[in-house]
Amino acid sequence: MARQKLLVANWKMHFVRAQASEYLKVFTERVRGVHKTELVLAPPFTLLETVGRALEGTAIRLAAQDLFYEREGAFTGEISPIMLKDLGCSYVIVGHSERRRLLGETDELINKKLKAARDAGLVPILCVGETLEERRAGKTQRVLEAQVRGALAGVHPHPQPLSPSRERGAGVRGPHLVIAYEPVWAIGTGINAEPEEAEASALFIRELLAQLWNAETATTVRILYGGSVKPANFEGFLRHPNIDGALVGGASLDPEAFAQLAQMAERV
Ligand code: PGA
Repeated sequence: MARQKLLVANWKMHFVRAQASEYLKVFTERVRGVHKTELVLAPPFTLLETVGRALEGTAIRLAAQDLFYEREGAFTGEISPIMLKDLGCSYVIVGHSERRRLLGETDELINKKLKAARDAGLVPILCVGETLEERRAGKTQRVLEAQVRGALAGVHPHPQPLSPSRERGAGVRGPHLVIAYEPVWAIGTGINAEPEEAEASALFIRELLAQLWNAETATTVRILYGGSVKPANFEGFLRHPNIDGALVGGASLDPEAFAQLAQMAERV
């Protein structure tokens, strides 16, 4: 089965409502001809409703950048998977390296969040990746293996039925998981991984999924590359068979640049 290309814009902590609306006007216009590639926007929580409304009637899906693992309760400041579903989210980013590093998120916590997302019918976009130190010490695969095993402990593949609906928040094709390989040293630095290295890591992750689950499921999971993706370097990643798209930070803040990435994915 051919995997559909996927591009996710991680806006991180950027934009207020007026900026988001300006962005969407330009972006939705520019990607009008994009049909084969799945496009996802991950704005901050405060913009989910605004962006979700603007995306109504389009095939562009909504993602949150994080979630809490309980459905409701006394958890001041946290946001539950139910709340995200209510706003029309289809996806949620889990285990981003900025949260691992700045907020001390562990594989155990990420595992809880990933399970909670799947239980609520949200597709987690699990981020994994090595630091520069780990890479220099030749530990990349060891780190990826620990992060994937940790995040997926006790998680079973339950392939979703094919959904005829393209509505916001509707079920997504394939197993309930996307993995983003994001080497920490490449995030926001302007220094991207070599596409060959990213392909090797994506293949390693896919083979690990085949071991943990089964080969058939592993071939249906989409694996993205993330880390300083921009129009000037994206082509190289798209040529590789195990890279199914990208998780984009900086370049996704420019609607023209992000639309250009979408058009490049569409041409592959
Ligand atoms: P970047 O961020 O494209 O700015 O490197 C990627 C990410 O953090 O998801």
